Amino acid sequence: MQQRPMPFKKILFVCTNERIDSDRACCAHRGGGRLRDLLKEMVKARGLKNAVRVSASGCQDRCEQGPNIMLFPDNIWYSGVEEKDLEVILDAVVQSLGQGDVTV
Ligand code: FES
Repeated sequence: MQQRPMPFKKILFVCTNERIDSDRACCAHRGGGRLRDLLKEMVKARGLKNAVRVSASGCQDRCEQGPNIMLFPDNIWYSGVEEKDLEVILDAVVQSLGQGDVTV
């Protein structure tokens, strides 16, 4: 095993968990996958790829409030996220980064 510093300054974990045989809500059925894809495109378009990672996550155990996105290492949890919220989320991420982290 090797231990290294985290290669990204921020990670946005977007829940894309899907429940197939359950009546319980899931983020996949509320657009989690689409949010992840859009965020990836937006991070790339803003020149943030080297500093910000967008990753799909499994269930964050807040299914009824989904779709859910967790921002690390900031310990921020966004719930009930809609596409129109992604710009606001990324604006907050950019504000918390150093200027050298944007490479456009
Ligand atoms: S399915 Fe997303 S929090 Fe459970």
